[in-house]
Formats: sequence, structure tokens, C-alpha cells
Amino acid sequence: MKISVIGTGYVGLIQSVGLSKLGFEVTGIDIDERKIKKLNSGISTLHEEQLEEELKLFINENLKFTSSYESVYDSDLVFLCVGTPQDDFGNADLKFLYSAVESLKKYIGDKHKTIVIKSTVPVGTCRKIKEILKDYPVEVISNPEFLREGIAFKDFFEPERIVLGFENPENIESTKLLKRVYSHFEKKGVPFVISIWETSELIKYASNAFLATKISFINEISKFSDIVGADIKTVGEAMGMDDRIGPKFLNAGIGYGGSCFPKDVKALAKQFESFEIESKLINATESINQTQNIWFFENKIKKYYGDISGKTFAVLGLAFKPFTDDLRESKAIELINILLKNGAIVKGFDYIEKARENTINKYALSDSKSLGYSLHILDELNDALFNVDGIIIATEYDFDKENWSEIKNLVNHPVIFDGKNVMDSKTLKSLGYTYFGIGKN
Ligand code: UGA
Repeated sequence: MKISVIGTGYVGLIQSVGLSKLGFEVTGIDIDERKIKKLNSGISTLHEEQLEEELKLFINENLKFTSSYESVYDSDLVFLCVGTPQDDFGNADLKFLYSAVESLKKYIGDKHKTIVIKSTVPVGTCRKIKEILKDYPVEVISNPEFLREGIAFKDFFEPERIVLGFENPENIESTKLLKRVYSHFEKKGVPFVISIWETSELIKYASNAFLATKISFINEISKFSDIVGADIKTVGEAMGMDDRIGPKFLNAGIGYGGSCFPKDVKALAKQFESFEIESKLINATESINQTQNIWFFENKIKKYYGDISGKTFAVLGLAFKPFTDDLRESKAIELINILLKNGAIVKGFDYIEKARENTINKYALSDSKSLGYSLHILDELNDALFNVDGIIIATEYDFDKENWSEIKNLVNHPVIFDGKNVMDSKTLKSLGYTYFGIGKN
């Protein structure tokens, strides 16, 4: 079976490499020639566990990348994996998706094709795409992805469910092809959720919005916990022992970031609005997330120092979460901006080299002065910690495993602001640190 995958971002690249590992003949398509060149030489364009090793195994075997849509002509299946970023009003911007649909039209030919939408798209989009392609011999299927950055490859091979949306899910012929593509997972007992387009599209948004809501919920409770002197970590852990609640995504912190939750929560709220209904819950999730970092800064950092102007801080963690180089909507970057705006000097560090590089590029592009004077990105953790007036944990790495007794000799003042509640406060206090977590003292 021949497959074309349009878009080589996170989703498209994992999908291309994953499908080639499953034995399919895959062509990845992207308009960015530089990316194509790199990928064809076996170099990954993203930092993602396992990805480059696997890419090297299949490239020029049953996997290739190109900027031409020609492979669509011979393909049985075309996966659309282009980005659906946020527009200026918070809606999902479908310009890349519609432009990909226009580009592939020319290559559909007479042979029947199945177009699978993996991009996260507002409810109703598959129906619109089918309408655009109504004169072509195509079937449109919705198949949202549930990959987490950093462990996306593992998520591809160990999915918890495969969601498929059809124009007519009763039509066995339609479901057959996708079941064949994912037969590896069917054999492993992975559940298939088969429904109409709209249900499938909504499953994706509802899943991300629910996880984001869990985070905003615990963040809201953490503020109250702070005031009453309770320990939010214990609260979250004990809540999670209830099967109906579950332990995951109940870690309080400076908020959620990344390329998915922030944009998908806003886009879902906008979809409600487009039908003239308001989602109070989804809007609250978003608004709690917007203000969490400011709350942390005002109530922890600023409260401790008064004026932070001229003070130096180590910000540990730069990407939006561990094991990725992705800075999109990173709360660490948001916090760095708040610190810089308040006159502080920031020394940033991330364990992932590419995350450090991306930060340097980001600031060099937007404000090279701040990079030269008030913002420094360091390759070694100890250099980032040297002579600082305070340490801020901004990503949930296991920073606890570092030697905090030795680190104490490096810093100016042993003060830790734990924006992700990952540190062992008791040990730190016994070592002489002043510790501030979120929702605990
Ligand atoms: C998220 C979803 O988890 C995936 O299922 C989905 O496929 C993906 O979006 C997508 O739509 O493509 P991802 O953005 O990679 O995946 O990141 P997550 O691991 O979900 O973390 C998102 C953010 O929430 C991070 O900033 C993280 O620090 C934060 N978070 C997570 C918390 O603040 N507290 C928690 O308890 C958990």
C-alpha cells in the first residue's frame, strides 16, 4: 500500500516514520525544501526521542521526502498532517490545510483515494473538505492524533485508542482500508472508536480541553491551598487515588504551554461562540492559565525580594516541557519575559541543547540587546547557577537529582522558587535553602 503524508511537523514526521516502520511505502511531503534535504539525509528536523535512529533505518528504503505532490497520484492513502495554528482571534487557522487540499487536487487522478485528516481541525471541517473535493473520487476520514511531544514515537506505537470518523461509519468498505493500515494495533487489542466525522473531530478537542482543565483546576486549588497552608502535592496525589479522578495532570505549576493545549482550548471556545453559546468552563481554563505565571511572580518572587531590578535569576528549563526543544507557548519563556520586564538578569538553562539554541535564536531575532546583557543561555547547569540571587524551576525535569548541597556554594542566595513543584522541599530546607513551591510552603 502506498501512502503520502502531507506536512512534516511533529505529527507528519512521526506518522511518516511510524508507518514506514510498519512496512508501508511512505512519501512525506512538505513545501520546506531545507527540511526535505535534511530528512532525506537521515537528519531529524525535531528533537524527539528515538526519531532520528528510526528515520535513519527507513530513509531511502521505504521512506522518502519530497516537496512535490506527485506521489499523491499513486497513493491509496493521503494523510493530511499540516499545522492548524491559532489566528489573531483565537480560532484554528485552516489556511495550510485548505492550501494542501488545493495542491493535492491536481494529483488525485481517476484512482480512488482516501484522504485522512490527522491535523486538529474544528468540528465540521471534514464535511467542508468533502464538499471541496465533491467532484473527485475521494473518501475523507477523520483520524485525530494523541501524540505527546517528547514521547511521540512511543505514543504512535502504543496508542490508547484509535479514533476514526467517517461520512458513513456503517459503510464497511470505508472502514476496511484504515483497519488494514492500523491492523498492527488491532491485533494488539487497541480499541477502535468508529463514528461520524463530527464525533471524531470533537473527541480530539474535548480530550485536550479536559486535560487542560484538570491542570487549571489544580492550579486554581493551589492558590487556595497556599493561603490555608495545605500541601497541594498531597491533595493532588490523594485525589488521584480515586479511580474516577485519576492521578495524571494534577501537578500544580506555572501553567500549561506547548503547541496544543493553549491553541486547542481557545479554538474550542471559539467554536462554541460560532454557534452563539458560551463555554464558561473552557474560558475559565484558559483564563486561569493566562494568569498563573503572573500570580507566581507576584506572590512568590516579587513578594520575597520587593524590587527584583538588577537581581540575577537562574531559570531552569526553557522548553514548554521536558525532553523537547519546543518553545511554543513555553511558560518558562513567558516567565523569563516577566523577569526581564521587571529589570532582572536571567541565566537560562535546559538539558536539551536544541532548546537552548532555539532560545538564543528567539531572543536574537526579537531583541538582541537583551540577549547581550540581561539574558544569558548557559550550556552547563552550574554556570547558570553561578552567583545568582534566586533559582526558578520552570519545567518539570527531575532537577531534584542534582547535587543541591554543592550547588549551594555556587549561588549568591540559596533561594528556590519551584514553579513545577518537582523539588523535595524538606531536603532543600535542611540544606539551608529558602524554598517556595506552588500551593505549599
Ligand atoms: C498534548 C496532549 O497531552 C496529547 O495527548 C495531544 O496529542 C497533544 O497535546 C496534541 O494535541 O497534539 P503535549 O502538548 O505534547 O500533548 O504536552 P503534554 O504532555 O500534554 O503537556 C502540556 C503542558 O501541560 C506542558 O506545558 C506541561 O508542563 C503541562 N502540565 C502537564 C502541567 O502543568 N501539569 C500537569 O499535571 C501535566
